[in-house]
Amino acid sequence: MERPKTDLRYNGVLKELEEFQQRDFSFASGRILGSMCALPHPIAREAYIRFLETNLGDPELCPGTKAIEDRFIAFLARLLHAPKTATGQIVSGGTEGNITAMWLAKQLSKRNEVVLPKSAHFSFAKIASLMGMKLVEVPLTRDYVMDVSSLKKKIGKSTAAVVGIAGSTELGTIDPIPEISELCAQEHVFFHVDAAFGGFVIPFLRKLGEDVPQFDFQCSGVSTVSLDSHKMGYSAIPLGTLMIRKSSWLESITVESPYISSERQAGILGTRSGAPVAAAYAVARYLGEDGYCEMVRSCMEVTRYAQRRITGLGLSLVTPPTMNVLGVKVKKPATVVKRLSEQGWRVNKVERLSCIRIVCMPHITKEIIDEFIPVLKNTCEEVGEL
Ligand SMILES: Cc1ncc(COP(=O)(O)O)c(C=O)c1O
Repeated sequence: MERPKTDLRYNGVLKELEEFQQRDFSFASGRILGSMCALPHPIAREAYIRFLETNLGDPELCPGTKAIEDRFIAFLARLLHAPKTATGQIVSGGTEGNITAMWLAKQLSKRNEVVLPKSAHFSFAKIASLMGMKLVEVPLTRDYVMDVSSLKKKIGKSTAAVVGIAGSTELGTIDPIPEISELCAQEHVFFHVDAAFGGFVIPFLRKLGEDVPQFDFQCSGVSTVSLDSHKMGYSAIPLGTLMIRKSSWLESITVESPYISSERQAGILGTRSGAPVAAAYAVARYLGEDGYCEMVRSCMEVTRYAQRRITGLGLSLVTPPTMNVLGVKVKKPATVVKRLSEQGWRVNKVERLSCIRIVCMPHITKEIIDEFIPVLKNTCEEVGEL
């Protein structure tokens, strides 16, 4: 339905939206330095708009879009060395990926405890509340990764799942997934890898010859891996995927769906848009593994540049970066974050580690870092950090 350009009410509403939008921080400005989301790749934007009306909750209405979803899942299966038995469940992001994984683990094991590192994302607190699961925390080593010897003591008769993090929210660290996998295989325990951030980073760091552990289905004890296209997949919000070692497991989280065209539906959501799926597939198809490799190489170059500039100011890092995430030690994270925000720059605060988090996403350049450094220096001097 076309509206004449002279429809004043229509144009007025758009104007109103624009006014609200102007209050937002934008990725395009380069001033959001703390988020794990990015300015989507241009092809994601185009694809998203074209698929706005699609509903993958009723896939027989859009067999073409469903075929795109299947191809995207096949791409991820190759990327993560998934066996032929594997499948993928599209989700809205890391939170839903974790919820779905724990739902599977609970259904398959009929047990109730989730053993997870102290660095796990807060979505697990939602899981505890939603599903009545008990969280059993494992301490971290001095390198901020899960301490496997403590993990051994926490696995027991009630363990439904062990969770490992491949790219932690706070520092981008990677738990020792191969060792955890071995332990879970021995104990016959479901092992979920939360690679919401690292899933589109670690495969390419490994290709670039960086010393990072394996984290995917090559580790035989890994049951599920979640990874987000709206983070380092360089695509549009909301999209993540939970990759599942055995497609037969999905049956345990499937219900009858009598009034839509497909008779059964797996997972949490009903109606869900095909637009972010088309966008994520378009980016994956366009960049391919070589394109992602170049993206990760460039993000790491900017990260190391930022690290040099920041330490050059006399500030220090919580730990050397494993991936494109920097934790910069400060005594008063909230004060620093507030002052930077007042000057138009957004970084995240991590009170638990007394640091601010900077994430060098694909749209962050060395020029942006050069603009940011003097602001950070002045701010730190002003609030007594330097
Ligand atoms: C490791 C990890 N898991 C899960 C999530 C939650 O993802 P989302 O906010 O997309 O639900 C995040 C978010 O930053 C994350 O870093």
